[in-house]
Amino acid sequence: MTDALPLVLVSRALPPGWLDRLEGRCEMLVGDADVAGFDSPLLEALPRAEGILCLLTERVDAALLDRAPRLRVVSNMAVGVDNIDVAACTARGIPVGHTPGVLTEATADLAMALLLSAARRLPEAARDAREGRWSTWSPTGWLGTDLHGARLGIVGLGKIGAAVARRARGFGLELVYASRSARPELEAELGLRRLLLPELLATSDMVSLHVPLDEHTHHLIDAAALRSMKPSALLVNTARGPIVDPDALEHAVRNGEIAGAALDVTDPEPLPPEHPLFARPEVLVLPHIGSATRGTRRRMAELAADNLLAGLRGRPLPHTVNPEVEPRARAPHRLGPSRGER
Ligand code: DGY
Repeated sequence: MTDALPLVLVSRALPPGWLDRLEGRCEMLVGDADVAGFDSPLLEALPRAEGILCLLTERVDAALLDRAPRLRVVSNMAVGVDNIDVAACTARGIPVGHTPGVLTEATADLAMALLLSAARRLPEAARDAREGRWSTWSPTGWLGTDLHGARLGIVGLGKIGAAVARRARGFGLELVYASRSARPELEAELGLRRLLLPELLATSDMVSLHVPLDEHTHHLIDAAALRSMKPSALLVNTARGPIVDPDALEHAVRNGEIAGAALDVTDPEPLPPEHPLFARPEVLVLPHIGSATRGTRRRMAELAADNLLAGLRGRPLPHTVNPEVEPRARAPHRLGPSRGER
């Protein structure tokens, strides 16, 4: 008797071709492309699933894992894994894959776009031009901030933070960073200077966030942090929404504690259109598009597929956040008893 192919739940349908490498290697049950979360057919199939390939819109927590006793790998098509209870996966011996590297450049590009946009007030200027408020060239209209010579504070100097630093250097910004660990090689390469976060916030003209979301970084930028920034400062967030307290940000911008913000990520996502942040002309909000280029998203899907296949084969995942977990090969005959049945 030949073994059935392992069942994999793909939480959201992806464009044709992106998951080609899974064809013939597993049975795929695919959720709705446009609906966040696992839909009911996927939830019903959890007891048989050996793999999950999901997006950042899906919560993989202990309750879900308890319904999937045969699960051997969770592969997230994102670099951030705050949607996954990694500790719960680790406790169950399930490796978790993610997609670092392939989205670094696209996300850094978007951070620079937001920085430029906020500094030069592009959304306000474009809206005024479109809506008939461009009566003449104005010596004082839409005045923004120079990038060259300004100090950019980079919070978190991982791959994306470093890629932003490389770009910002070309714009003539002075670069400082705050990070749990020192990066002397990058300091030498890019002329970066490491500061403690309070000093970075108090002295930077622009602040760009590049830390992962965890219990240490939730509301890292709160009311006190915002109050400590320069009234002329701009805040850019392409990391995760909950790193910034949204109510505190709205208050800070409304009261001139900082000059503006450009956010690719918000808390919650999507940010409801009636949210007061949308009413602030100094705040630009994008719908989490940091990695949204065709090439990057396809590479993320391919990397997620590679992680998934490695886990199904019982091999180390190319990119995992819990390398201490040893992937488990499938029992040789049929599926074998599930852990729940042992
Ligand atoms: C990620 O991968 O974590 C990004 O936020 C989405 O591309």
